[in-house]
Amino acid sequence: MKVGILGSGDVAKALAVGFLKHGHNVVMGTRDPAKLADWLTQQRGARASSFAEAAKFGEVVVLAVKGTVALEALRAAGASNLAGKPVIDATNPIADAPPVNGVLKFFTNLDESLMERLQREFPDARFVKAFNSVGNPLMVNPQFKEGKPTMFICGNDEAAKQTVRRILDQFGWETADMGKAEAARAIEPLCMLWLIPGFLRNEWSHAFKLLRQE
Ligand SMILES: NC(=O)c1ccc[n+]([C@@H]2O[C@H](COP(=O)([O-])OP(=O)(O)OC[C@H]3O[C@@H](n4cnc5c(N)ncnc54)[C@H](OP(=O)(O)O)[C@@H]3O)[C@@H](O)[C@H]2O)c1
Repeated sequence: MKVGILGSGDVAKALAVGFLKHGHNVVMGTRDPAKLADWLTQQRGARASSFAEAAKFGEVVVLAVKGTVALEALRAAGASNLAGKPVIDATNPIADAPPVNGVLKFFTNLDESLMERLQREFPDARFVKAFNSVGNPLMVNPQFKEGKPTMFICGNDEAAKQTVRRILDQFGWETADMGKAEAARAIEPLCMLWLIPGFLRNEWSHAFKLLRQE
């Protein structure tokens, strides 16, 4: 697949490495492609360009920018370059404020997630929440003795979720589909929960798993 990744930070890089490992082609979108030049010398099959060029290139687009600027980055990518495509939304609506006893502050509330805001402004893009509730070093083929961890996803478009499910299969995750975009109200705060052991005890090597009784 051709994958356009909007972002140049740790998440964008970790997912790019994962897509390349599994044989996909990647264009990274950033305001400043030059800052990825060194990193790209180590990555065959990837290049850097603008947000718009990356989105245009992708059959699948990944949104991996700071939550406060997610709408801004999508506007720079251009609605027409996102229309009809699965957009994997890895962002979290983390406010510019310090955590309280290890608990982050969000700029959204429990009745409206960031992904719903993005979906409302870009109705033709097919947003799927994924990869937001685990640290970037564990995003691609993480190894746990208990088996595959669970990635909670949601989104309004079934075909887009099927595409993301196939990617998650390749990336070594079990997928738990939580339904439509509103489920992002519950999935985004999993990031808060995931980060608490990190902030309190410097523990960063866990992931969530959904257990089901036979
Ligand atoms: N870090 C993790 O392990 C982790 C795990 C799960 C989810 N997440 C979520 O994934 C997202 C990315 O996290 P990150 O840690 O990789 O990076 P980050 O530092 O949160 O974001 C970096 C990206 O934000 C973009 N950006 C900043 N200001 C901008 C603006 N005014 N307009 C457009 N773009 C702007 C930067 O674009 P330029 O390239 O143009 O500078 C850069 O690509 C966040 O929403 C985060 O909450 C992070």
